Amino acid sequence: MNLVLLGPPGAGKGTQAARICEAFVLVHLSSGDILRAERKARTELGRKAQGYMDSGGLVPDDLIIAMMMDHISRPQVVERGFLLDGFPRTVVQAQGLDERLSTRRLRIDAVVNMEVDDAEVTRRLTGRWSCPKDGRIYHEVFSPPKKKGLCDDCGETLTRRKDDEPGVVRERLRTYHELSQPLAAYYEKRGVLRTVDGGGTTDEVFNRIKNVCQA
Ligand code: AP5
Ligand code: MG
Repeated sequence: MNLVLLGPPGAGKGTQAARICEAFVLVHLSSGDILRAERKARTELGRKAQGYMDSGGLVPDDLIIAMMMDHISRPQVVERGFLLDGFPRTVVQAQGLDERLSTRRLRIDAVVNMEVDDAEVTRRLTGRWSCPKDGRIYHEVFSPPKKKGLCDDCGETLTRRKDDEPGVVRERLRTYHELSQPLAAYYEKRGVLRTVDGGGTTDEVFNRIKNVCQA
């Protein structure tokens, strides 16, 4: 099974992706995580992406499509099935993905669109902490670590993402409404869209997603 997770910044895509991939045994491919790893490794792609990411804009479509196809095409990913988180993010990216998947005789089986309003995602992002080592995501109120500031799994010191600063969050939301929201209509037309309410606890959201993926 190949899935796409859509939703605004802070909707809980990364949080749910980890659970969905465990339940359905899929490879989690988060474009944001891959870009942050490229930046950390100081690659040319990472250097090119940096300014767009820090200002809340989007990295150019051609760079992102090439980067994601490089991961999607790996034999172990094709074999197991994948969940795309944060990609595609524009209609051009969705078209590019569809074309490239069809030449490899692959397709997207379902697109889960998580709906969460701007006020709630802002609350979620301003309290987010993540583990720089294993990527586990926390929230200081909604899902705090057992020991303040430390990852439950590996004990690493948790960090905040630079793009969670309020001014950048506003710009990320503006970018989402302008360029990413139209993707729901694109996938609706193809008959694969499953819209879920992203509000409530992480367990409640996970159960809704599981139900629409099994339907
Ligand atoms: P990316 O890393 O993809 O960021 P994003 O889409 O803005 O999403 P986030 O990762 O911020 O949020 P999330 O939905 O994963 O929520 P999370 O689970 O962490 O992209 C970063 C940047 O890279 C982009 O701005 C762009 O520049 C670039 N980029 C990436 N992909 C690109 C593409 N395809 N094209 C062009 N550029 C691209 O949860 C958030 C918080 O909420 C956490 O604290 C969590 O604990 C909490 N939480 C989760 N669920 C709940 C719940 N049910 N109740 C309460 N709290 C909850
Ligand atoms: Mg994420």
